[in-house]
Amino acid sequence: MLLNLLFLLLLLPFYVQSSDPTFNDDVLGLIVFKAGLEDPKDKLTSWNEDDDSPCNWVGIKCDPESNRVVQLTLDGFSLSGRINRGLLRLQFLQVLALSRNNFTGTINPDLARFWSLQVIDFSENNLSGSIPDDLFRQCGSLRVISFAHNLLTGQIPDSLSYCSSLVSVNFSSNQLSGNLPSGIWFLRSLQTFDLSNNSLEGEILGGVANLYDLRAIKLGRNRFSGQLPEDIGGCSLLKVIDFSENSLSGSLPDSLQRLNSCASLSLQGNSFTGEVPDWIGKLKNLESLDLSANKFSGRIPFSIGNLQSLKELNVSMNQFSGGLPESITSCVNLLVIDVSKNRLTGNLPPWIFKMGLQSVSLSGNRLSGSIPHPSLKEGSYQGGLEVLDLSSNALFGEIPSSIGALSSLMVLNMSRNHLFGSIPVSVGELKSTHVLDLSENWLNGSIPSAIGGAVSLKELRLEKNFLSGKIPAQIENCSSLTSLILFQNNLTGSVPSGIANLSKLQYVDLSLNHLSGSLPKELTNLSHLVSFNISHNHLQGELPVGGFFNTIAFSSVNGNPSLCGSVVNRSCPGVHPKPIVLNPNSSNSSNGSPNHHRKIVLSISALIAIGAAAFIAIGVVAITVLNIRVRTSMSRAAAALALSGGEDYSCSPSKDPNYGKLVMFSGDAEFVAGSEALLNKDCEIGRGGFGVVYRTILQDGRSVAIKKLSVSGLIKSQEDFEREMKKLGKIRHDNLVALEGYYWTPSLQLLICEYVSDGSLYKHLYDGTSRNCVSWRQRFNIILGMAKGLAHLHRMDMIHYNLKSTNVLIDSSGEPKIGDFGLARLLPTLDRCILSSKIQSALGYMAPEFACRTVKITEKCDVYGFGILVLEVVTGKRPVEYMEDDVVVLCDMVRGALEDGRVEDCVDGRLRGNFPADEAIPVIKLGLICASQVPSNRPDMEEVVNILELIQCPLEGQEELV
Ligand SMILES: *[C@@H]1O[C@H](CO)[C@@H](O)[C@H](O)[C@H]1NC(C)=O
Ligand SMILES: *[C@@H]1O[C@H](CO)[C@@H](O)[C@H](O)[C@H]1NC(C)=O
Ligand SMILES: *[C@@H]1O[C@H](CO)[C@@H](O)[C@H](O)[C@H]1NC(C)=O
Ligand SMILES: *[C@@H]1O[C@H](CO)[C@@H](O)[C@H](O)[C@H]1NC(C)=O
Repeated sequence: MLLNLLFLLLLLPFYVQSSDPTFNDDVLGLIVFKAGLEDPKDKLTSWNEDDDSPCNWVGIKCDPESNRVVQLTLDGFSLSGRINRGLLRLQFLQVLALSRNNFTGTINPDLARFWSLQVIDFSENNLSGSIPDDLFRQCGSLRVISFAHNLLTGQIPDSLSYCSSLVSVNFSSNQLSGNLPSGIWFLRSLQTFDLSNNSLEGEILGGVANLYDLRAIKLGRNRFSGQLPEDIGGCSLLKVIDFSENSLSGSLPDSLQRLNSCASLSLQGNSFTGEVPDWIGKLKNLESLDLSANKFSGRIPFSIGNLQSLKELNVSMNQFSGGLPESITSCVNLLVIDVSKNRLTGNLPPWIFKMGLQSVSLSGNRLSGSIPHPSLKEGSYQGGLEVLDLSSNALFGEIPSSIGALSSLMVLNMSRNHLFGSIPVSVGELKSTHVLDLSENWLNGSIPSAIGGAVSLKELRLEKNFLSGKIPAQIENCSSLTSLILFQNNLTGSVPSGIANLSKLQYVDLSLNHLSGSLPKELTNLSHLVSFNISHNHLQGELPVGGFFNTIAFSSVNGNPSLCGSVVNRSCPGVHPKPIVLNPNSSNSSNGSPNHHRKIVLSISALIAIGAAAFIAIGVVAITVLNIRVRTSMSRAAAALALSGGEDYSCSPSKDPNYGKLVMFSGDAEFVAGSEALLNKDCEIGRGGFGVVYRTILQDGRSVAIKKLSVSGLIKSQEDFEREMKKLGKIRHDNLVALEGYYWTPSLQLLICEYVSDGSLYKHLYDGTSRNCVSWRQRFNIILGMAKGLAHLHRMDMIHYNLKSTNVLIDSSGEPKIGDFGLARLLPTLDRCILSSKIQSALGYMAPEFACRTVKITEKCDVYGFGILVLEVVTGKRPVEYMEDDVVVLCDMVRGALEDGRVEDCVDGRLRGNFPADEAIPVIKLGLICASQVPSNRPDMEEVVNILELIQCPLEGQEELV
């Protein structure tokens, strides 16, 4: 409310021109000014509109006599908004300082109403528009004006030259354009004149010598052309001269030599030509001389040695020739010397280590000779050298072994010379060094492991040398490393895994070496990588997957014939499986019906997912089947798929061993096409000594069990594996679980088996309650079926080796099917240790000969296991039962009972009264005979089948026997 009223008041013309100090507009004006601002840091809370006087407000200074505001100083208050007309009420204002805020909008020309205003500082705001011409029409007392660092455009108004009391003009860092106002050199009081970093152009007119009080002239970073004003030497108090980065040309005006107060002369980035005159040595107060990036030629004058105050000398990027003047050693205050990119010749001067210099840049010349030894001996190296750039010269010889003495060195660049020998171990003492560049020399030997001592290294460049040996693992200690560039050497060995711990790495180039081995997977942890070039080495194995490596360019990895991964278009064994088309008919040994051997397309990813599922604790693995065409990483395989119509066998696994190989012995193995088969943990249907078993469904609705072999590491060659599989695939019997197919990669093998619906014998025997326990008839049938199955197996010259009740499955009609046979043959040798450790769970089924190294293991070991199974089925007891403090071994227990004449008591209690003793007792006896200690005492399985049939139907059997 009040504010609105105040604004209304402001709109009225200034009819009150009272000199009555008790009636003034200062509070009103300031409150209105404040009202137009954002004050995010609440700097102006003391500005209270109820106050009678603003003199105690923050940022305000009043004249003690008149109590009128004379200073408004709000520098760096983070204020934003516009500078509104409220300020115009402050009729006695002398200092208006609003620098380092965020004021926007244009400059109000009415500010010029203030005859009293002496200082206007609007620097470092966001003011835009042009500097109003009217602003300077009445600038009677204006001494300091700064609009530096704003967004001002347009020309510098000519009216500026009316402000004859101006001492300082600073319009730097805007976007001002046009010429210098013609009357500018009439500002006789001017001491500081800064128009740098604008877009001003045209020639700098003569007449500057009128400004006899000028101390600093900065016109750098504009577009001025022409020559330096001839009379500049008339401004004899000049200390700072900056005409840098313009388009000035010509030679240095002779009058310059009169500026013996000059401390800083910056002429870099122009097109000055000619020699640097000898009189330069007269500028005795020069502390900084920058003539870089011009076209100066001739020698660097000897008189430079007279510049005793000189701290920085930069004559780089010119056409200076000849040697470095020895007189430079007289510049006792010199800290920084940059003579790079000239045509200097001669030997590297020894004084570079002797003057207490901080930064020496001699790069890009034609300096020759060897590098002097820095040593800490008295009178020599004084320490403090931070930058030493000797790159791109013709230096010859070895890197001084004492280089480590330069302990303050932050940048050491000796690249592009003819340095030979090895990298001195003392580089490890360069604890402060950020950049170490020895690239493009003739260095040989290996990278010293001491490099790990250079703990501050950010950039290590050793490319294009003759370095050999390994990349030292100690590089891991250089934890700040962002660039590691070692390409084009003769490095061998593997990429040290510690590199993966250099978490700041951005650029790595190890290309064109002889590196071998595989890449550490952990490299994917490097989250800042921009490039990682390992091309043209002998690296092998899988490219890391994930992070930067998912988008790594082919050119960064090619030329490594044994590297695999989608980027190099070579699939890795068992890692990035691709679907394949196989025709098992092509295999000579296959003898099945051709109708059954149709082309099989199966997503290997489904199988892999099964493999992976073993490691997934919770949840669901979604397997996308036959949906591979959209996946770029699989595009090649998809192309092969499309091409390999008919009998074409071009993507045969024998040609590309990296492909997984799938073979189905019968039937069509397509998983439900195009849809997602869900395989969750529930589909795990068993675990055994040889692996985990999962259930999945084929397209034709058939279930199959997929067994992931857990003995992968032990498995023999692919040939052996396949030979065994083919043999197993041929074994078909009602009482044996059929092997439908298999999948091979070197790291993963899957067996695809017939799925048997009703679970294992073990489950039937022990999970059933007494009510629904397996009947005697069923039990007998199971025993007979098992015997038939085993007999067939033995006829086929197969030994099971691993019989147990969990390996016997029961189908829906109650028929037993023996599974897991022959797998022990996959092991490299029938090592008893492996065998017994793998089938530890088969404790109690294992024939005693397994423990006896001298006895050959024959199919009779299966007969033993069968005997135990018989006893198990009849008694419903595990082969070995652990009681509280006793172990009961089933066959010993039954044998004892038989001897005691109470064998009937052994039959499963749940069958009590419900079994024919004339069958049960012979079956028990048969079981005990089969479980004989001595293998030769055990009957063949064929005999066992016959005996069982006799027991079942004595009459029929006798008839047959007759
Ligand atoms: C100006 O404003 C910007 C963003 O609005 C802020 O980041 C910056 O700190 C401000 N500057 C000052 C000097 O207050
Ligand atoms: C000031 O200008 C800078 C540069 O144009 C801009 O980034 C910044 O946001 C501006 N601040 C305000 C408060 O307008
Ligand atoms: C001009 O103002 C800018 C910004 O405040 C400042 O950095 C610069 O030093 C000033 N120029 C002179 C010559 O003082
Ligand atoms: C690289 O090393 C190999 C074997 O170590 C050697 O034969 C070859 O000459 C070396 N090449 C260079 C350029 O040093």
